[in-house]
Amino acid sequence: MSEKIIIEGGYELEGEVRISGAKNATVALIPATVLASSVVTIYDVPDISDVEALSDILRSLNVEVNRQKDHLIIDPSKIKNIDLVQDNVTKLRASYYFMGALLGRFKKVKIKMPGGCFLGPRPIDLHLKGFKALGAEVKLDDDGIYEISANELLGTNIYLDFPSVGATINIMMAAIFANGRTVIENSAKEPEIVDLAIMLNKMGAKVRGAGTDEIIIDGVSSLGGCFHEIIPDRIEAGTYIVIAAACAKKMKITNIIPHHLEGLISKLEDANVAMELGDDSITIVGNKEIKAIKIKTQPYPGFATDLQSLLGAFLTQAKGVSMIEETIYPERFKYCEELNKMGANIKVKSPVCFIEGVSQLKGTEVSATDLRCGAALIIAGLLAKGTTTISNAYHIYRGYENIVEKLRNLNARIWEEK
Ligand code: EPU
Repeated sequence: MSEKIIIEGGYELEGEVRISGAKNATVALIPATVLASSVVTIYDVPDISDVEALSDILRSLNVEVNRQKDHLIIDPSKIKNIDLVQDNVTKLRASYYFMGALLGRFKKVKIKMPGGCFLGPRPIDLHLKGFKALGAEVKLDDDGIYEISANELLGTNIYLDFPSVGATINIMMAAIFANGRTVIENSAKEPEIVDLAIMLNKMGAKVRGAGTDEIIIDGVSSLGGCFHEIIPDRIEAGTYIVIAAACAKKMKITNIIPHHLEGLISKLEDANVAMELGDDSITIVGNKEIKAIKIKTQPYPGFATDLQSLLGAFLTQAKGVSMIEETIYPERFKYCEELNKMGANIKVKSPVCFIEGVSQLKGTEVSATDLRCGAALIIAGLLAKGTTTISNAYHIYRGYENIVEKLRNLNARIWEEK
């Protein structure tokens, strides 16, 4: 895939866009298939590079993976517990879900520390605390390779100091075959966790409470295959909603779960954006004067950290000074520097940034420093006068299916550099 996205800005968008399956659910569902002993078929799998990378990791474990249109057919019946120490593992952060999944399945996993987007420090102490509480021993060598093993995994109560999405998912998977009952207290409540619990239960697991702050897992002895359709991506939906609010006369976004977007919708209402909600769609009518607002990111159901950079780009068009407080990743403001290169007026005092509107953005060369920074730059590029060139576009392809094609269908002048 090409490395640059080029946008000629200033054109009004219009039309309809369908939201794909959720990236952050998919990246947990794929590793979870190693817990099954027969075929798992997952529908509405987004065509993004993170899915490719996780499928490659599965193949290196001798798991068969076939993609047919929007579904992945995964046959883990001949799986081998091979050490995951190659470069393909460190390429993306979600590879760490193989920690919990392989520990659960084989009671042993050897895996290199994952990479992923740089959003400031991203420790995994809570994941490890959970594995240890279940009876595992954790060793880390000088090359960043973890060896986690247990003679027996025993159900227990695990309290998370913070409702971490990753730790909740990893501990859930590690506990699936543990003896007895595991209770994760102060668990994360994100919809992607509920989706994973639904798939695991279809496979024969006994997981209750997903979506609340207490998840209860009663250990079972084996899991079978299943069919599962992924929930729509609330962050991709949020991205197109904000794009519509910023640049569209009228745009309909379909295949959404409105309930998952309440944090965003309420903030856009404050900003004076006109919206019509359907059962599984939302229509945005643009062109109103945008008001400055205050946002504070929080764990779900609060305002999602993954959407704050998008609002950052949008609020350059608001009247007055907006403020964003980032409580999940206090350093997630690299996008502001890039937006300022385009003529925005944003001052960062981590964990807060102040956005002074209204700015006429101007096209220039900018860099996607991470996935959601890339999405914010696309919004800015669509708003800007002239041509914007976004380098390191591979970050964007990690999480947005066919973004260039989807935007072209909405009348955007956008292309990938060949
Ligand atoms: N944290 C710890 N210790 C841990 C785990 C987390 O201190 O052991 C801290 C983190 O440093 C961070 C906070 O807890 O400050 C939240 O981390 P969390 O574990 O909840 O996030 P994550 O699992 O690493 C997922 C998504 C992110 C999303 C966050 C928050 C996936 C693959 N990633 O990350 O998505 O921002 O939850 O909702 O699901 C993205 O899609 O762009 C993205 C970065």
